Amino acid sequence: MPLRLLLVRSIAAIFLATLALSTLLVFWRTYEKVEMDMSAALAAGQRAVANAADESDGITQPSWRLEHIVANFNGDRNVRATLQRADDSQLHSILTPPAHTVPPFLFNILAGPPHVATVDLPAALKSAGALRLETDAHNDVAGLWDDAKNLLFLLAIFASTCLLVLYFMLGRALRPLEELTHGFARIGNGDYRARVPIFTPRELAKLSAGFNDMAVRLTEMEYRNHRLHEQLETVQEEERIELARNLHDDVSPLLFSVDVDAMTIRELAQTKDYPAIVERAHAVRGAVAEMKRNVKAILGQLRPSGLHALGLASAIDNLVSYWKTRRPEIAYKINTPDRTWGPRVDGALYSIVRESLNNAVKHSRPSRIEISIEELYASGFLVARVTDDGAGFDANNASGGFGLIGMKERAVLLGGTLTVENRRDGPGVVVTARLPLPGEEEAEFVQGIAAQ
Ligand SMILES: Nc1ncnc2c1ncn2[C@@H]1O[C@H](COP(=O)(O)OP(=O)(O)OP(=O)(O)O)[C@@H](O)[C@H]1O
Ligand SMILES: [Mg+2]
Repeated sequence: MPLRLLLVRSIAAIFLATLALSTLLVFWRTYEKVEMDMSAALAAGQRAVANAADESDGITQPSWRLEHIVANFNGDRNVRATLQRADDSQLHSILTPPAHTVPPFLFNILAGPPHVATVDLPAALKSAGALRLETDAHNDVAGLWDDAKNLLFLLAIFASTCLLVLYFMLGRALRPLEELTHGFARIGNGDYRARVPIFTPRELAKLSAGFNDMAVRLTEMEYRNHRLHEQLETVQEEERIELARNLHDDVSPLLFSVDVDAMTIRELAQTKDYPAIVERAHAVRGAVAEMKRNVKAILGQLRPSGLHALGLASAIDNLVSYWKTRRPEIAYKINTPDRTWGPRVDGALYSIVRESLNNAVKHSRPSRIEISIEELYASGFLVARVTDDGAGFDANNASGGFGLIGMKERAVLLGGTLTVENRRDGPGVVVTARLPLPGEEEAEFVQGIAAQ
């Protein structure tokens, strides 16, 4: 759940609890107030009856007098008077009807049982009947409940408004966090140019400044990485020069000695000194054998031939030309873009294509071999495929060689995968290497280096 909603939900829960507590408090206070009002109303009623009864001295018609007293209570809000006549008939005063109706369950909670009092009448009136006063809280409860309702309604409006304002304010306050999240996502995708504005709250200002510092450092590190690549290339160049020097130093003197021995043999041939000729011939063979050893050692140190100088597409063309002269019966189709993805990726692609070609020619007698390299920007992968239409791959017949292992290792080292499987659309094998495309900046950098 988003932080914003989580905060609003917690505060709404606090408001609801406060509202529930306020309602309980209002109920309790209303109950107390009703009780007090009823007691006061009954006491006032009793005083009114007593006063009226006092004035009834000398009255000859007591029943008429009592009826008059009951009639005085007509229109009262809280007290109902009842005259119990000697002949068992009753006369009730009429209460003012309440302005609002209160649900019965609420009335039962807010009002206690009615207060009842039988009035002690003077002897002159007693013969005409008995007078009873009884409270009725409907009017009181209706008024108080109306006030309480308004109060609770206001509280609810206040709480909702507060929540709404809070929701929008939190949205504004949390926007910096959203920007930071977006920035981190860009950094995570390798885009180190991501920066965020310095936000105003002090804590967030520190956070955004820290983020920007981190992004700057990452950019510097990436730059240093590129520089290291450059230096590596220089080191490789120096290695080549060193190899050329070795070739010169280890092979040239031997060539010279062979040359000298050849001249000596010619002279010895004129004098017909056959033992000396045989000895010289042995020396020539010895020198040639040493040359072969030296050349082999030097060749062993050489990198994939001409890849850096020619570029990947041309290097692959050379590979194919090599096989065309040796296996002219095989048709080739090449689809490789003329560009570079940096020495590491180019080197891996070259080695994978070379080994796949070797395997196809060596193990399966194909009539056609297809080589393709494709950039799939949507998935961020570079896909190289070498497809043949030969005998196909037989897992039971695998030789235990190192070619497949080497290809897989190269792909995995670059964060990719390599599969070797039989084709589904016919006989033959398809080797598929999927390597992650170098990032945009890295690619630009590599293209820049390549252009120099
Ligand atoms: N294109 C192919 N068609 C048919 N079989 C293949 C193909 N590529 C590889 N294989 C099979 O896979 C096996 C393993 O290949 P791998 O390249 O690892 O070893 P190798 O070629 O035998 O030896 P090495 O490459 O070490 O000189 C091969 O022996 C062969 O049986
Ligand atoms: Mg092989």
